[in-house]
Amino acid sequence: MQVTLKVFRYNPEVDKKGHYETYALDVEETERILDLLELVKGHHDGTLSFRRSCAHGVCGSDAIRINGRNMLACKTLVRDVGDRITVEPLLGLKIVKDLIVDMEPFFDNYKKVLPYFINESPLPADGKERLQSPEQRARFDETTKCILCAACTTSCPSFWGSDDYLGPAALVTAHRFIFDSRDEAASERLKIVGETSGLARCHTAYNCTMACPRDIQITKAIGELKLATLTGKVD
Ligand code: SF4
Ligand code: FES
Repeated sequence: MQVTLKVFRYNPEVDKKGHYETYALDVEETERILDLLELVKGHHDGTLSFRRSCAHGVCGSDAIRINGRNMLACKTLVRDVGDRITVEPLLGLKIVKDLIVDMEPFFDNYKKVLPYFINESPLPADGKERLQSPEQRARFDETTKCILCAACTTSCPSFWGSDDYLGPAALVTAHRFIFDSRDEAASERLKIVGETSGLARCHTAYNCTMACPRDIQITKAIGELKLATLTGKVD
């Protein structure tokens, strides 16, 4: 089928502002938007810049706006979006070149919630593992699925307004550790997410939940964090 691919272009070395370039492509409806970008880069303009690594929805590096919605280029098929396709960089982060944005503010916020397992207690006498029941594991299963693509945070109006808002992805990570029965830093993390740049900035827009390529119920997880900051309960 014939598709028209409109691509945001910006090279800070020569452009004062961004513009769009349009490519007419002959593709299969089952090809992915990432395939189209590779096609343009390989056969039309080798200077086109975009991120990708795994190409299978695992690494989270190719989140972009496709027809106005945040999606992974490697998980979106041509038939999902039609024959007129516009691709643009994520909103709310500085554009480095073409479809590449500066992810530093995103990862700075991620680091603030202590995104690692904390347990200073000695291991059980019998052993090697800190045991957890299936129910305890299920409590945070949903939020372990995050691939840090930033589709949620960069679809959030509160983050557009101020990139010091922790944002949905950092809150998802906080949830993953706060509700892990083996972790001992829940109260420290609840204090961090309870600060003014945290949960209070979430106005339940649901954009994050709609954008997540892993179908994580982000707004629900944020709601559980809000409740935990009020009650102190994390079980
Ligand atoms: Fe991406 Fe979903 Fe993780 Fe947000 S919660 S960074 S949208 S995988
Ligand atoms: Fe890794 Fe798309 S390239 S998620």
